[in-house]
Amino acid sequence: MKAVILVGGLGTRLRPLTCNTPKPMIPLVNQPFIEAMLLRLRDQGIDEVVLAVQYLADRFVAALGDGSRLNMKLHIIEEPEPRGTAGAVKNVEHLLDGTTFVFNGDVMTDLDLRAMLAYHREKQSKVTISLTPVDDPTQFGLVEMGRDNRVSRFLEKPRAEDITTNLINAGTYIIEPEVLRYVPPAQFYMFERGLFPVILQTGDPMFGFPSRAYWTDIGKPQTYLDVHHDILIGKVRYNFQGQQIADRVWLEGDADIHPSAQIVGPLVIGHGVSIGRGARIIGPSVIGPNCTIGPDVSIEGVVLWEGNQIAEGAVLRNCVLGRNNQIGPKTQISDGAIISDECNLGGDNRLEHGIRIWPGTQLGEQAISF
Ligand code: GDD
Ligand code: MG
Repeated sequence: MKAVILVGGLGTRLRPLTCNTPKPMIPLVNQPFIEAMLLRLRDQGIDEVVLAVQYLADRFVAALGDGSRLNMKLHIIEEPEPRGTAGAVKNVEHLLDGTTFVFNGDVMTDLDLRAMLAYHREKQSKVTISLTPVDDPTQFGLVEMGRDNRVSRFLEKPRAEDITTNLINAGTYIIEPEVLRYVPPAQFYMFERGLFPVILQTGDPMFGFPSRAYWTDIGKPQTYLDVHHDILIGKVRYNFQGQQIADRVWLEGDADIHPSAQIVGPLVIGHGVSIGRGARIIGPSVIGPNCTIGPDVSIEGVVLWEGNQIAEGAVLRNCVLGRNNQIGPKTQISDGAIISDECNLGGDNRLEHGIRIWPGTQLGEQAISF
């Protein structure tokens, strides 16, 4: 079974985490998001994937190669210029040869792909769109269905007054490649504003597949943190790497944990981590590889990428730190704060209220407090 993953966009809303790292490469529980997604596909019977990328193909090739490390076949294809969601699939049509999954590359879900495929076949559908309920459909593609779940209307980014249902396009499709004949070659063309409305006109069978599977778009800093918490508390099915060493504590490789440190899951600890005397690490949290957590540091509800050094007595709560930051003694970071990469924040600072610190920031002692 083959799939196309749409990987475009600049990840603007996730800045500063995406300043140095393309959005699909940002880590999800210590693993690049796209890699976790590929493994999820592989484990559900998809063994050949085309990554349709808008830019930075070399970064994806360097990280994923031809997919053999993940035991799957991977093609990484860069568009000459952004082709839009359907245009991107048209651009790789020569690699497709039958019923194909198409995924938006920025969605975290544990949707049952086999059940969706069985449904697509049973309905003899040409396009099947996975649907999920949301509170506010205005940021999404609204999908109305008639009898038998046949799609009767598709409205991208509806105005509040046009909302007739809470079901939206969840960004997983199954298509029969013959529908790509409606997509003009070498042009910018969208599924959402082009192909789906056209198929409603032609009358080809297009069905919705509603599901209550876990679903979220990872595109914003708070959702990035929420997804981690949901994974760690088991709200979404997820394959943790590493060994479970205590109740809901997973360790990837070796770590040096002081016997007096207090460790409370759910927690994932990367390889090469060192945790000092009297430190308290409370889940749901992820400690990236090669982080050094000093004595008496207190951590709760955080996501740390690799190589962070947290000095004695610092307090981190409900925040994200990118790569290789140095956090001074007794500095407090909390309340949705995002620290990017390679920052050096001196001691006794207080960073709160969703503050975003750009890569390479240097802060003296007691420079910021609220
Ligand atoms: N290769 C490629 N080329 N990929 C693209 C392009 C392009 O020109 N444009 C967008 N993409 C990718 C994005 O990277 C993302 O993975 C996916 O296509 C959807 O684009 P977004 O820009 O994230 O769209 P959205 O979130 O506003 O809306 C879409 O997703 C919603 C669900 O999250 C739509 O499909 C909505 O209908 C849907 O509800
Ligand atoms: Mg999106």
